[in-house]
Amino acid sequence: MKVMVVGGGGREHTIIKKLKENKDIKELYALPGNGGIAKDATCVNIGAKDIEGIVRFAKDNKIDFAVVAPDDPLVLGAVDELEKAGVLSFGPTKAAAAIEGSKVFSKNLMEKYGIPTASYKVFSAADSALEYLKSAPMPTVIKADGLALGKGVIIANTKEEAEEAVRTIMEDKVFGESGNNIVVEEFLTGPEVSVLAFTDGKVVKPMVSSMDHKRALDNDEGLNTGGMGTIAPNPYYTEEIAKVCMEKIFLPTINAMNQEGKTFKGCLYFGLMLTMDGPKVIEYNCRFGDPETQVVLPLLKSDLFTVMNSVSEGKLEDCPVEFKDGSACCVVMASKGYPQKYETGFEITVDKDFEAEIYYAGAKLKDDCILTSGGRVLGVTAVAGNLKDAIDKAYKEVTKVHFDNAYFRKDIGLKALHAE
Ligand code: AMP
Ligand code: GLY
Repeated sequence: MKVMVVGGGGREHTIIKKLKENKDIKELYALPGNGGIAKDATCVNIGAKDIEGIVRFAKDNKIDFAVVAPDDPLVLGAVDELEKAGVLSFGPTKAAAAIEGSKVFSKNLMEKYGIPTASYKVFSAADSALEYLKSAPMPTVIKADGLALGKGVIIANTKEEAEEAVRTIMEDKVFGESGNNIVVEEFLTGPEVSVLAFTDGKVVKPMVSSMDHKRALDNDEGLNTGGMGTIAPNPYYTEEIAKVCMEKIFLPTINAMNQEGKTFKGCLYFGLMLTMDGPKVIEYNCRFGDPETQVVLPLLKSDLFTVMNSVSEGKLEDCPVEFKDGSACCVVMASKGYPQKYETGFEITVDKDFEAEIYYAGAKLKDDCILTSGGRVLGVTAVAGNLKDAIDKAYKEVTKVHFDNAYFRKDIGLKALHAE
């Protein structure tokens, strides 16, 4: 069987390593992949947003199954086009990907179907948003409607900060068209939990919960990033809370999407906040999280390809999705300066006695050497019997990976450990 994975980050590397456990997969391609992924799959120089190129490659190479991992190609309709070309694919259609692609759509969906989330208002002009902010409670949260490379959410502590956010999004258009509309929403507090769930639009099978660490610096300080590390399972997410989420959030979301004629198939990411009033949805993503995937999939006991295939065929009900006991911790090694300015092109070396998994993200190959090529360079994931051991092991193994200007947070998982 021939399988291709669209994307080229740590998430895609994790998916690829897990797919490789299925011995029926004889050829595995990554579009475009990266220098580290090249050890595990054939990398093809076609960008993740080049939908035409992706479909042409799949057809020319008689690909049996495609996994579209990143948000951009999903929102651009990669799965629709692949399926039109007869390639069975894992991921939502363009219509269903709107659950991430438009915050206005997802907030209106939640309101219409009574799914718990922060209260909000939508604005399509800066004037009316600025007028509203005069009497809005602070802090408040301002979100650009469309995709914004994970930077479209601004938490404003003062009216001045809120006004500036509205101006930069709606007038300066820092996120382009994504800022034509904005959502201004209530500021919620509580522990955050990420839950990735397989769904074929009929049943939902959640994976183990996880916790991301989005800020660049220790103690959740510094700028927001794509994610500096993760742990799974998330100790705040008890069985009782999981039951509430299934009943009040997961199933209602799947049903709502069906009602709207946008059946969601693939991996639906629920970004939740556990507030005093119960769990609420902070955001939906139409895909696996990065770096959540780097701790969730290593704990998956079931065969990933079998599960993905059953999702795409609408047969998830009959397919077991089981997880191992134990915990995982992923520490992201970044280029110093990320998420702002940083240098790249440094050789990455790994000591011979390294005993964990490396999932490469910002890495390229040059003459058999792997060089840094991005902000988030790689993630080191360790799995152990309990959370403390997973964290200790990840930090021990991180010291065996070397490149100039490497930076990583020293406190991944500490908050979770205290919660335990
Ligand atoms: P997002 O880019 O949607 O993942 O949002 C980034 C982060 O902003 C989230 O992980 C939360 O920490 C925070 N956030 C988003 N919405 C809210 C909210 N309504 N109240 C408090 N924090 C929020
Ligand atoms: N780690 C957050 C995300 O994937 O959106």
